[in-house]
Amino acid sequence: MTTALDAAELRSRLVAPNGPYAALDVVATTASTNADLAATSAVDRTVLIALEQTAGQGRRGRSWSSPEGGLYVSVLFQPAGVSADRLPWLNLIAGLALVRVAQSVGVEASLKWPNDLLLGPSAGKGAGILSEITADGSVVVGIGLNVAKLPADVEPAPGGLAPTSLEDLDAAELDRGELAFRLLVELAQLEGVWRKNGGDAVESGVLEEYTEHSSTVGRRVRVELAGGVELVGVAQRIEQDGTLAVRGDDGRDHGVSAGDVVHLRPA
Ligand code: BTN
Repeated sequence: MTTALDAAELRSRLVAPNGPYAALDVVATTASTNADLAATSAVDRTVLIALEQTAGQGRRGRSWSSPEGGLYVSVLFQPAGVSADRLPWLNLIAGLALVRVAQSVGVEASLKWPNDLLLGPSAGKGAGILSEITADGSVVVGIGLNVAKLPADVEPAPGGLAPTSLEDLDAAELDRGELAFRLLVELAQLEGVWRKNGGDAVESGVLEEYTEHSSTVGRRVRVELAGGVELVGVAQRIEQDGTLAVRGDDGRDHGVSAGDVVHLRPA
Protein backbone atom coordinates (compact mmCIF):
# COMPACT_ATOMS: atom_id res chain seq x y z
CA MET A 1 0.00 0.00 0.00
CA THR A 2 1.11 3.55 -0.68
CA THR A 3 0.23 6.30 1.75
CA ALA A 4 -0.95 9.87 1.24
CA LEU A 5 1.63 12.60 1.52
CA ASP A 6 2.18 15.38 4.00
CA ALA A 7 2.06 18.71 2.14
CA ALA A 8 3.38 20.77 5.06
CA GLU A 9 6.35 18.47 5.46
CA LEU A 10 7.14 18.64 1.73
CA ARG A 11 6.84 22.42 1.77
CA SER A 12 9.15 22.74 4.75
CA ARG A 13 11.82 20.71 2.96
CA LEU A 14 11.43 21.94 -0.62
CA VAL A 15 10.18 25.53 -0.64
CA ALA A 16 12.40 28.61 -0.10
CA PRO A 17 14.19 29.46 2.11
CA ASN A 18 14.85 25.77 2.89
CA GLY A 19 14.57 24.40 -0.63
CA PRO A 20 14.77 25.30 -4.31
CA TYR A 21 11.06 25.80 -5.09
CA ALA A 22 8.94 28.96 -4.86
CA ALA A 23 5.60 27.31 -4.02
CA LEU A 24 4.19 23.81 -3.62
CA ASP A 25 0.61 22.60 -3.37
CA VAL A 26 -0.88 19.15 -2.93
CA VAL A 27 -4.45 18.29 -3.91
CA ALA A 28 -6.27 15.00 -3.40
CA THR A 29 -7.79 15.13 -6.85
CA THR A 30 -7.99 17.38 -9.90
CA ALA A 31 -8.61 17.02 -13.62
CA SER A 32 -4.98 17.63 -14.66
CA THR A 33 -2.10 19.22 -12.77
CA ASN A 34 -0.63 20.42 -16.08
CA ALA A 35 -3.87 22.16 -17.03
CA ASP A 36 -4.13 23.71 -13.55
CA LEU A 37 -0.63 25.16 -13.60
CA ALA A 38 -0.89 26.35 -17.20
CA ALA A 39 -4.06 28.26 -16.31
CA THR A 40 -2.48 30.24 -13.46
CA SER A 41 0.07 33.02 -13.47
CA ALA A 42 2.35 30.95 -11.25
CA VAL A 43 5.91 32.03 -10.61
CA ASP A 44 9.07 30.19 -11.65
CA ARG A 45 9.53 26.85 -9.80
CA THR A 46 5.93 26.37 -8.70
CA VAL A 47 4.92 22.76 -7.95
CA LEU A 48 1.49 21.15 -8.00
CA ILE A 49 1.03 17.53 -6.89
CA ALA A 50 -2.14 15.46 -7.14
CA LEU A 51 -2.87 12.04 -5.68
CA GLU A 52 -5.37 11.32 -8.45
CA GLN A 53 -6.37 12.99 -11.74
CA THR A 54 -9.75 12.66 -13.41
CA ALA A 55 -8.62 13.86 -16.85
CA GLY A 56 -4.86 13.26 -16.90
CA GLN A 57 -3.28 14.30 -20.19
CA GLY A 58 -0.70 12.24 -22.05
CA ARG A 59 1.44 12.99 -25.07
CA ARG A 60 -0.02 13.54 -28.52
CA GLY A 61 -3.57 14.06 -27.26
CA ARG A 62 -3.77 10.76 -25.38
CA SER A 63 -5.12 10.45 -21.86
CA TRP A 64 -3.00 9.42 -18.89
CA SER A 65 -4.57 6.93 -16.54
CA SER A 66 -4.27 8.58 -13.12
CA PRO A 67 -5.85 6.45 -10.39
CA GLU A 68 -5.30 7.02 -6.67
CA GLY A 69 -1.99 5.35 -5.81
CA GLY A 70 0.11 7.13 -8.44
CA LEU A 71 2.06 10.38 -8.24
CA TYR A 72 1.06 13.24 -10.54
CA VAL A 73 3.44 16.19 -10.41
CA SER A 74 3.66 19.37 -12.49
CA VAL A 75 6.35 22.02 -12.16
CA LEU A 76 6.28 25.41 -13.84
CA PHE A 77 9.65 26.76 -14.92
CA GLN A 78 10.62 30.14 -16.36
CA PRO A 79 14.30 29.58 -17.12
CA ALA A 80 15.49 33.13 -17.77
CA GLY A 81 18.59 33.17 -19.96
CA VAL A 82 17.73 29.92 -21.75
CA SER A 83 16.73 30.32 -25.38
CA ALA A 84 13.47 28.80 -26.62
CA ASP A 85 15.21 26.19 -28.80
CA ARG A 86 16.79 24.66 -25.67
CA LEU A 87 13.55 24.32 -23.68
CA PRO A 88 12.80 20.77 -24.95
CA TRP A 89 15.63 19.67 -22.66
CA LEU A 90 13.36 20.23 -19.65
CA ASN A 91 11.42 17.21 -20.82
CA LEU A 92 14.53 15.06 -21.01
CA ILE A 93 15.84 16.37 -17.70
CA ALA A 94 12.61 15.25 -16.00
CA GLY A 95 13.29 11.77 -17.36
CA LEU A 96 16.75 11.83 -15.79
CA ALA A 97 15.26 12.83 -12.44
CA LEU A 98 12.93 9.82 -12.68
CA VAL A 99 15.81 7.46 -13.46
CA ARG A 100 17.69 8.69 -10.40
CA VAL A 101 14.61 8.15 -8.21
CA ALA A 102 13.94 4.66 -9.57
CA GLN A 103 17.55 3.67 -9.02
CA SER A 104 17.46 5.08 -5.49
CA VAL A 105 14.68 2.59 -4.66
CA GLY A 106 16.54 -0.32 -6.21
CA VAL A 107 14.65 -0.52 -9.50
CA GLU A 108 16.46 -0.88 -12.83
CA ALA A 109 15.50 2.06 -15.07
CA SER A 110 16.18 3.47 -18.53
CA LEU A 111 14.71 6.09 -20.85
CA LYS A 112 12.93 5.54 -24.11
CA TRP A 113 13.32 8.76 -26.06
CA PRO A 114 11.99 11.27 -25.52
CA ASN A 115 10.54 10.71 -22.09
CA ASP A 116 9.21 7.30 -21.16
CA LEU A 117 10.66 5.75 -18.02
CA LEU A 118 11.15 2.02 -18.56
CA LEU A 119 11.39 -0.09 -15.43
CA GLY A 120 12.58 -3.55 -14.49
CA PRO A 121 13.90 -6.46 -16.54
CA SER A 122 10.88 -6.46 -18.86
CA ALA A 123 11.18 -2.67 -19.41
CA GLY A 124 7.53 -1.76 -18.89
CA LYS A 125 6.47 1.88 -18.84
CA GLY A 126 6.62 3.19 -15.29
CA ALA A 127 6.24 6.90 -15.92
CA GLY A 128 5.56 9.44 -18.64
CA ILE A 129 6.28 13.14 -19.03
CA LEU A 130 4.29 15.83 -20.79
CA SER A 131 5.85 19.28 -21.16
CA GLU A 132 3.90 22.21 -22.45
CA ILE A 133 4.76 25.83 -23.21
CA THR A 134 2.20 28.30 -21.89
CA ALA A 135 1.01 31.50 -23.54
CA ASP A 136 3.58 33.57 -21.59
CA GLY A 137 6.49 31.27 -22.51
CA SER A 138 6.68 29.36 -19.22
CA VAL A 139 7.18 25.60 -19.39
CA VAL A 140 4.96 23.22 -17.43
CA VAL A 141 6.68 19.87 -16.94
CA GLY A 142 4.17 17.17 -15.97
CA ILE A 143 5.27 13.82 -14.60
CA GLY A 144 3.06 10.80 -14.00
CA LEU A 145 4.76 8.06 -11.97
CA ASN A 146 3.06 4.69 -11.45
CA VAL A 147 3.70 3.94 -7.79
CA ALA A 148 1.00 1.43 -6.76
CA LYS A 149 -0.03 -1.46 -8.99
CA LEU A 150 -2.31 -0.27 -11.78
CA PRO A 151 -5.84 -1.46 -12.49
CA ALA A 152 -5.88 -4.24 -15.10
CA ASP A 153 -7.67 -2.12 -17.71
CA VAL A 154 -4.88 0.46 -18.22
CA GLU A 155 -4.08 0.61 -21.95
CA PRO A 156 -0.58 -0.22 -23.16
CA ALA A 157 1.46 2.66 -24.61
CA PRO A 158 2.11 2.90 -28.39
CA GLY A 159 3.72 -0.21 -29.83
CA GLY A 160 2.04 -2.34 -27.13
CA LEU A 161 4.43 -1.17 -24.39
CA ALA A 162 3.03 -2.63 -21.15
CA PRO A 163 2.54 -0.38 -18.13
CA THR A 164 4.26 -1.24 -14.86
CA SER A 165 4.71 0.34 -11.44
CA LEU A 166 7.23 0.65 -8.64
CA GLU A 167 5.08 -1.69 -6.57
CA ASP A 168 5.15 -4.34 -9.35
CA LEU A 169 8.95 -4.15 -9.18
CA ASP A 170 9.20 -4.40 -5.38
CA ALA A 171 10.71 -0.94 -4.98
CA ALA A 172 12.35 -0.36 -1.62
CA GLU A 173 10.21 2.78 -1.09
CA LEU A 174 6.55 3.27 -2.03
CA ASP A 175 5.72 6.25 0.14
CA ARG A 176 4.54 8.94 -2.26
CA GLY A 177 5.71 11.77 -0.01
CA GLU A 178 9.25 10.42 0.02
CA LEU A 179 9.16 9.67 -3.72
CA ALA A 180 7.86 13.17 -4.49
CA PHE A 181 10.60 14.64 -2.32
CA ARG A 182 13.35 12.69 -4.10
CA LEU A 183 11.90 13.46 -7.53
CA LEU A 184 11.68 17.20 -6.87
CA VAL A 185 15.18 17.34 -5.37
CA GLU A 186 16.67 15.59 -8.43
CA LEU A 187 14.66 17.74 -10.82
CA ALA A 188 15.76 20.96 -9.13
CA GLN A 189 19.40 19.85 -9.10
CA LEU A 190 19.46 18.90 -12.80
CA GLU A 191 17.43 21.91 -13.92
CA GLY A 192 19.51 24.27 -11.81
CA VAL A 193 22.81 23.17 -13.36
CA TRP A 194 21.30 23.17 -16.86
CA ARG A 195 19.89 26.68 -16.34
CA LYS A 196 23.17 27.98 -14.90
CA ASN A 197 24.80 26.82 -18.12
CA GLY A 198 22.29 28.76 -20.23
CA GLY A 199 20.50 25.52 -21.21
CA ASP A 200 23.63 24.08 -22.83
CA ALA A 201 23.14 20.29 -22.70
CA VAL A 202 26.85 19.54 -23.12
CA GLU A 203 28.25 22.03 -20.61
CA SER A 204 25.67 21.06 -17.98
CA GLY A 205 26.35 17.34 -18.44
CA VAL A 206 22.72 16.42 -19.14
CA LEU A 207 23.41 15.16 -22.67
CA GLU A 208 26.03 12.76 -21.36
CA GLU A 209 23.84 11.54 -18.50
CA TYR A 210 20.80 11.18 -20.75
CA THR A 211 22.78 9.17 -23.31
CA GLU A 212 24.12 6.91 -20.56
CA HIS A 213 20.56 6.03 -19.48
CA SER A 214 19.01 5.88 -22.93
CA SER A 215 17.75 2.47 -24.00
CA THR A 216 16.86 3.96 -27.39
CA VAL A 217 20.37 4.87 -28.61
CA GLY A 218 21.79 1.92 -30.53
CA ARG A 219 18.36 0.28 -30.88
CA ARG A 220 16.40 -0.57 -33.96
CA VAL A 221 13.31 1.63 -33.76
CA ARG A 222 10.10 2.51 -35.48
CA VAL A 223 9.22 6.17 -35.10
CA GLU A 224 5.58 7.12 -35.52
CA LEU A 225 5.67 10.69 -36.81
CA ALA A 226 2.84 13.17 -37.27
CA GLY A 227 0.40 12.48 -40.10
CA GLY A 228 0.74 8.70 -39.85
CA VAL A 229 4.27 8.74 -41.34
CA GLU A 230 6.66 6.05 -40.04
CA LEU A 231 10.43 5.90 -39.98
CA VAL A 232 12.25 2.61 -39.35
CA GLY A 233 15.97 2.47 -38.69
CA VAL A 234 18.61 2.50 -35.97
CA ALA A 235 18.78 5.27 -33.36
CA GLN A 236 22.28 6.74 -33.52
CA ARG A 237 22.48 9.36 -30.79
CA ILE A 238 20.78 12.20 -28.95
CA GLU A 239 21.80 15.50 -30.49
CA GLN A 240 22.82 18.60 -28.57
CA ASP A 241 19.36 20.09 -29.17
CA GLY A 242 17.66 17.00 -27.71
CA THR A 243 16.50 15.53 -31.02
CA LEU A 244 17.01 11.86 -31.87
CA ALA A 245 19.25 11.02 -34.83
CA VAL A 246 17.99 7.91 -36.67
CA ARG A 247 19.75 6.19 -39.59
CA GLY A 248 16.77 5.09 -41.66
CA ASP A 249 16.63 1.81 -43.58
CA ASP A 250 16.80 4.07 -46.63
CA GLY A 251 20.42 4.82 -45.58
CA ARG A 252 19.66 8.45 -44.79
CA ASP A 253 20.04 10.25 -41.45
CA HIS A 254 16.90 11.78 -39.97
CA GLY A 255 16.61 14.19 -37.06
CA VAL A 256 13.46 13.45 -35.06
CA SER A 257 12.15 16.19 -32.80
CA ALA A 258 8.74 14.67 -31.96
CA GLY A 259 7.06 11.32 -32.35
CA ASP A 260 6.41 8.00 -30.66
CA VAL A 261 9.37 5.67 -30.63
CA VAL A 262 8.81 1.91 -30.55
CA HIS A 263 11.80 -0.24 -29.67
CA LEU A 264 12.09 -3.12 -32.15
CA ARG A 265 14.04 -6.34 -31.93
CA PRO A 266 17.23 -6.35 -34.02
CA ALA A 267 16.51 -7.24 -37.69
C1 BTN B 1 2.79 10.33 -21.58
O1 BTN B 1 3.61 9.43 -21.41
O2 BTN B 1 1.92 10.28 -22.48
C2 BTN B 1 2.87 11.55 -20.71
C3 BTN B 1 2.08 11.41 -19.45
C4 BTN B 1 2.17 12.63 -18.55
C5 BTN B 1 1.24 12.54 -17.36
C6 BTN B 1 1.47 13.65 -16.37
S1 BTN B 1 0.64 13.34 -14.83
C7 BTN B 1 0.99 14.96 -14.28
C8 BTN B 1 0.73 15.86 -15.47
N1 BTN B 1 -0.67 16.20 -15.58
C9 BTN B 1 -1.23 15.70 -16.69
O3 BTN B 1 -2.43 15.85 -17.01
N2 BTN B 1 -0.33 15.04 -17.40
C10 BTN B 1 0.98 15.04 -16.77
